Amino acid sequence: MSRPLKDLLRTSDLSKADIELLLDTASKFAKKPLRAKKALAKKTVAIYMTKSSTRTRLASETAVAHLGGSPIFLRADDLQIGRGETISDTAKIISGFCSALIVRTFAQSDVDELGKHASIPVINALTDDDHPTQLLADWLTINERFGKDLKGRKFSYIGDGNNVASAWLIMGATMGEHVVVATPGGKWAPKASVVNQALEIAKRSGAQIEVTSDAKAAATGASAIYTDVWMSMGDSESDRAEKISALTPFAVTQELMKLTAKDSIFMHCLPAHRGEEVSAEVIDGEKSVVWRQAFHRRTTIQALLYHLTKGDLMGNK
Ligand code: CP
Ligand code: NVA
Repeated sequence: MSRPLKDLLRTSDLSKADIELLLDTASKFAKKPLRAKKALAKKTVAIYMTKSSTRTRLASETAVAHLGGSPIFLRADDLQIGRGETISDTAKIISGFCSALIVRTFAQSDVDELGKHASIPVINALTDDDHPTQLLADWLTINERFGKDLKGRKFSYIGDGNNVASAWLIMGATMGEHVVVATPGGKWAPKASVVNQALEIAKRSGAQIEVTSDAKAAATGASAIYTDVWMSMGDSESDRAEKISALTPFAVTQELMKLTAKDSIFMHCLPAHRGEEVSAEVIDGEKSVVWRQAFHRRTTIQALLYHLTKGDLMGNK
């Protein structure tokens, strides 16, 4: 008999059925936030972050509180890990006190190692490679706007081939939809390993995966245009000038939005830099759903904590 999913370390850990269950529960939490107010009663959830966060931290702490639990927020400086204690020892200690661990850091391998050594669920709240909890909120926003039947629609990410672009490819592939990622080629393109993984998943799910350097082609007829910051946390400042110059033709402007479908939406995980990856008139305009995406961060993390701690998710294994 297959075992339930213990951790959410990567977007690719989730099956389509898991995602549908999570989004369904998140919608219920949106209508009635305290629906499962005793699920984490008398329990604590550690939230360990070595990078900045506004939304994910607020969403995680409020999600734990809405489930009746207490969040414990930890920065690298707060833990002995900053003084050389191993990840495996840290994972064992946190497991002794808490019922789940939400972690945001640089290396994906650190999150994988925490998952391996912790006996409690570990949730990736952003690494250099992935941002699975963001994509849950994003897909809920897409379903809310267009329904669950997305046939004939195209969903395009335009910008840096970063952690969010990778998660976009894997999420779209898992859900069996038509997703496009348009980035400059070379250094700022999505990792080949992620594109190959998305193509593998697509063989089973029927998804259509396109990776291009043509922003206009990506925008033409799209139901959603998604972008993200050009300089991510951890990106090297020495690359800034070269990167901004390469990405300038990928800025989401009103001109680009004119190529999209009539009922299209503009998406951004935030934080945004108006005048860089998106113009103010687009992000603050009528097609923008960025506040709805941000709102769904809590309900989706709440659903994830609820189902992961109950062992309801089966994953892909
Ligand atoms: N979208 C997102 O993850 O935002 P924060 O970095 O503010 O958590
Ligand atoms: N790509 C961005 C996402 C922030 C939510 C970063 O990693 O900084």
